[in-house]
Amino acid sequence: MAVFNSLRRRASREGLAVYLVGGPVRDAVLDFPVANDLDFVLIGDAPALAADLAEELGGEVTVHTRFGTATVQIEGGRVDIVTARKEVYPFPGSLPQVSAGTLEDDLARRDFSINSMALPLSGDSPEVIDPHGGLQDLERRSVTTLHPGSFTDDPTRMLRAVRYEQRLGFQIGETALSEMKQTLAGGHAGAVSGDRWRQEFQKIFVEDRAAEMLLRAIELGALAAVHPALTDGQGLTKLAGETGLAPSDYLAALVVSLSAADGDGISRRLNLPADWARVVRDTMALKESESEISGPSVMTSKVCSVLDGLDPDAIAASARISQDPLVAERLHRYLDEWRLVSPDLNGDDLLSMGVPPGSKIGEVLRELNSAKLDGLVGNEDEERALVHQIISRGSWSPGDGGLLNGGTDGRPREPGNT
Ligand code: CTP
Repeated sequence: MAVFNSLRRRASREGLAVYLVGGPVRDAVLDFPVANDLDFVLIGDAPALAADLAEELGGEVTVHTRFGTATVQIEGGRVDIVTARKEVYPFPGSLPQVSAGTLEDDLARRDFSINSMALPLSGDSPEVIDPHGGLQDLERRSVTTLHPGSFTDDPTRMLRAVRYEQRLGFQIGETALSEMKQTLAGGHAGAVSGDRWRQEFQKIFVEDRAAEMLLRAIELGALAAVHPALTDGQGLTKLAGETGLAPSDYLAALVVSLSAADGDGISRRLNLPADWARVVRDTMALKESESEISGPSVMTSKVCSVLDGLDPDAIAASARISQDPLVAERLHRYLDEWRLVSPDLNGDDLLSMGVPPGSKIGEVLRELNSAKLDGLVGNEDEERALVHQIISRGSWSPGDGGLLNGGTDGRPREPGNT
């Protein structure tokens, strides 16, 4: 409100031609809460106005010279001010060439009619400026482009279309759907950089209906245009209807049924940062070894040996996506309990009991931990007894027919009975 009021004051006092545009106008008309990100168009010098605002209200300005735009971060909110501009796309999927323009030019360069309305900040009872029928499309609940070349100019708008459609409960209009088909048939998605695609995925991943958005994008063939392997919605179907999920859940759901080579291909195509690439890799690795941790009689130590070293976000996502309730439960228990288990004895205790220094200490600690996870030892005395058995066994490699295959009483116990 402080920003809004300051701009209104400037508009009436100094005759500044400034307009609220895009999402905030759309949401205000729909009577939805307006987000803390406000977009303004100015007929004039946007970076200079941003600097004035930041000086008056306190805030930090970032100027993007190429587009004549500026962003002010103020009290947890973000204000984008752009100098009204005309855009020309030299070739499909390229970044636009920008030149100064009128408000009409600025509205005409936008993606959909519902995002191409403006509200002047001057005057006592300002009316929405709506040259592209945005108000009517809001009423018709339709996502409609402004011109037939919109998706070809900027193929990322295909993902934006499904985002608005699913978020607002609208429909992508028939004409827009056939324009999308033409863009897909023309192979124009390939011209868009991975960074730009990733940014649109990121916007989807933080939406409540992200799974539905991605499923719709698969149905329309828009994801296959980003990478040909993105055609399977099985993982996403499990997430539909759920809210409050992490971006990594959706990423994992997108890739869970793919081959490792396709997973790597997608990480490269979207230029994923290292932590996301790891979610992709580990989700697929876990899927590969899922059969080892499914079925009724799997030892807890086996579950842990499969999961140790995998990314916890990938494990959490896999628990949500898995079709097997027993696997899902084991993944949850691993994250909540089993990965936190450690033996009561430590390395010093083992040394003082006669385990030789060096790698043997680690081996025995791991064997103790496995025994504890499997319920074969339940307290420090039982751990000591096991260490003595290992020492007398004289064999240091776990899993060689030693104690992991039977309890101190020779009988394995129930998995997870710790
Ligand atoms: N825009 C566009 N084409 C794009 C990206 C953005 O035409 N590829 C225009 C739209 O008019 C949009 C405005 O720029 O309303 C602001 O874009 P952005 O801040 O990216 O909007 P989002 O945050 O993605 O969406 P919203 O706030 O509407 O949910």
